[in-house]
Amino acid sequence: MSDKERINFGSKLGVVAAAAGSAVGLGNIWRFPYELGQYGGAAFLIIYLACVVVLGMPIMLSEFVIGRMGQANSAGSFKKLAPNGKWWLVGVMGVFSSFLIMGFYVVVSGWTLEYIVQAVGNQFANKQTTDLAQVFSNFSTDTVRPLVWMSVFMFLTAAIVFAGIKNGIEKSTKLLMPMLLLIIIALGFRSVTLPGGIDGLRFLFQPDFSKISSAVVLSAMGQAFFSLSLGMGCMITYGSYINRKNHLSHTVVEVTLIDTLIAVLAAVAIFPAVFSLGINPAQGPELVFITLPNVFAHMPGGYIWAILFFVLLSVAALTSTISLLEVIVAYFVEEFNFKRTNVIIFASLGIMFLGVLSSLSLGVWSDVKILGMGFFELFDNFTSKILMPVGGLLIALFVGWKLDKQAILNELSGNGQFKTGYFKVYMFLIRYIAPIGISLIILNQLGISKLIGLE
Ligand code: PHE
Repeated sequence: MSDKERINFGSKLGVVAAAAGSAVGLGNIWRFPYELGQYGGAAFLIIYLACVVVLGMPIMLSEFVIGRMGQANSAGSFKKLAPNGKWWLVGVMGVFSSFLIMGFYVVVSGWTLEYIVQAVGNQFANKQTTDLAQVFSNFSTDTVRPLVWMSVFMFLTAAIVFAGIKNGIEKSTKLLMPMLLLIIIALGFRSVTLPGGIDGLRFLFQPDFSKISSAVVLSAMGQAFFSLSLGMGCMITYGSYINRKNHLSHTVVEVTLIDTLIAVLAAVAIFPAVFSLGINPAQGPELVFITLPNVFAHMPGGYIWAILFFVLLSVAALTSTISLLEVIVAYFVEEFNFKRTNVIIFASLGIMFLGVLSSLSLGVWSDVKILGMGFFELFDNFTSKILMPVGGLLIALFVGWKLDKQAILNELSGNGQFKTGYFKVYMFLIRYIAPIGISLIILNQLGISKLIGLE
């Protein structure tokens, strides 16, 4: 596709909606609270926020820059900007990451569909915490039912990606995301006013620094990459669809604010209830699916709230899976000239295969372990804690050290139309802080920093 033909997001709001649609998803409402619960509450939150600002924002801007300058998919953009190097492999790694992320993400997305059905059937009313935990465990360890929902979800994603960027993504996000935000705020009010809810707020906002370890720092960083959809070519691909009239740094600030706000509010909705109901905050991936149905059961109009919430959560997941699939599709269509329809079909089948592995690893195949983890855990950990941060590191090196500084400045300023007072700070973060910070965090976790005498 030549530059001229390349489709653009329709409007300024469209850009923000699409990128925020990618960022806001299960990462905010499902993964963030359970990671935070497992890794010690407020201390995790503080490190998470620091990672978002110091690493996340500059890397998102860098991805937009690469995509909009390169005008191509994640690998193609690198090829255009550095034709002689091997940098395009960073893009290929992103495509690989997309597959693995989708491999567990579609399973959890399927769970949200099951919970819509349960909400409609009024299944949460009058149930105690232990009943709700049982319901979840029966369902998620089942062999067939989660796979049916996963397939439905994969089909929806494929259908929207088939319909194309502009029609599919922008429209669904603009209206539904503000609604999701409102529901989470309402849930937050209910949760905070439950008896004993205050302990949850304490857990969330009163840091206990003795809980910080290399594992906490690595998982907070991984969560920042995951939640902002970074380090795997998603924002490069979307960046290539952003119109030149668009102010990239504003988009970054808006998307980051929305994403972080929704994550923090989700935690405010969940932890007071967790403490009030005596649920273990370190419960793991089932945390949200046990806690929130409980909150709905205690809420006036809970029946309607529950339905609305799970519908919107599915939509939020859908706007994320769309962006993940788009990374894969844009790559194979542009680099190999395959037909869009064929790529969508084969990629979906491949993803469903991984989805079967992840889903069954929670049930009948729970004994199958690789590096001590089942497939679900493996795909989740390997992508967010290794692949995405390493991808982010390479992206930072590319923009910081390989691309021409003046060309970046021109791209960011729209050839002088926009103010770029942040440019020096941005360059400093991307050249030094991001590469050094990410390396240290990963090395520290691997225990290598001890070996080479950094500690
Ligand atoms: N950011 C999405 C979420 O929080 C997940 C995602 C990761 C989407 C990577 C695209 C790319 O749910």
